[in-house]
Amino acid sequence: MKLILFGGKGGVGKTTCSASAGLHFAKKDFKTLIICTDPAHSLADSLEQTVGDGIKQVTGVNNLSALEVNSEKALQIFKLEYEDEIKNIMETSTQLDKDDVESMFQLQIPGLDELMGFKTIIDLIEEGQYEKYIVDTAPTGHALRLLNSPYLIDEWIKVMAKMRWKYRFIVQSFSGKYTPDKSDDFLLSLKKTVKRIETLLKDSTQCEFIPVLIPEPMAILETERLLKSLNDSGIAVKRLVVNNVMESEGCEFCRARKKAQQKYMAEIKEKFGHLTITPVPLQDNPVMGIEVLDRIKNCLFE
Ligand SMILES: Nc1ncnc2c1ncn2[C@@H]1O[C@H](COP(=O)(O)OP(=O)(O)O)[C@@H](O)[C@H]1O
Ligand SMILES: [Mg+2]
Repeated sequence: MKLILFGGKGGVGKTTCSASAGLHFAKKDFKTLIICTDPAHSLADSLEQTVGDGIKQVTGVNNLSALEVNSEKALQIFKLEYEDEIKNIMETSTQLDKDDVESMFQLQIPGLDELMGFKTIIDLIEEGQYEKYIVDTAPTGHALRLLNSPYLIDEWIKVMAKMRWKYRFIVQSFSGKYTPDKSDDFLLSLKKTVKRIETLLKDSTQCEFIPVLIPEPMAILETERLLKSLNDSGIAVKRLVVNNVMESEGCEFCRARKKAQQKYMAEIKEKFGHLTITPVPLQDNPVMGIEVLDRIKNCLFE
């Protein structure tokens, strides 16, 4: 497995699991990169060291690097790079004047920022500097948008391509021939990016999505929806992490909590029994720093 994505509701332990999984693979001598796509980056807090939008070696762990993807910045760079190509399509294929084209160019293209965040990941995978890529995704809704971005952007490309075809037809009718220009190349290369992303996501030998939840009703409901969307998108799910499982029976409160959780653990087993379920015990302290993450790692992979 080359690409592993952790996802789920906010606060259930996605970042914790991503960091622990990164630690696991790095210690197994795989060159590993943890990529955080949650705009509310907390990977740095989890690792207790700075992480930024450039790849950084994790201090104290050989073979482990980390990166916080800034989708907005990736989109800005993309727009800057392809401004001419996009505007050229709009100018040649519509009746719009320069001002209209400018305002259209400034419009948000749905899915494009997420797609560009994703493209950053794909580019890194294709560069092939690492053996394992662990993605710490944003809470469910955002992660689903990320996974849905190839589809959204594909729709956008279709519209642009349609506009191009009209232009192409007119040029061809008048001059007898049409030579593809840099705008056509741009659409084609974007189309290829979308295809590459889709192919990787749907390849169950290379990519796995691991939902993380806690034994509570709202998290169970959200996991059901997440699993359905992943299934609809053809993305492989083989196992589930149930975090914050109460083990102690040392006091009245612990016993009550444990009892309450048992009901939801049973529900999880009933609903998601077709998946491998990995429980992770609730720790007595927040999970921060390499030493504590190492403990979680052992629960996840023992
Ligand atoms: N098993 C656990 N026991 C105790 N605290 C945990 C456990 N897993 C995660 N935490 C803590 O819960 C909080 C949320 O975890 P985090 O991994 O940031 O969630 P997410 O990325 O899903 O929002 C963090 O403060 C983290 O240290
Ligand atoms: Mg997080």
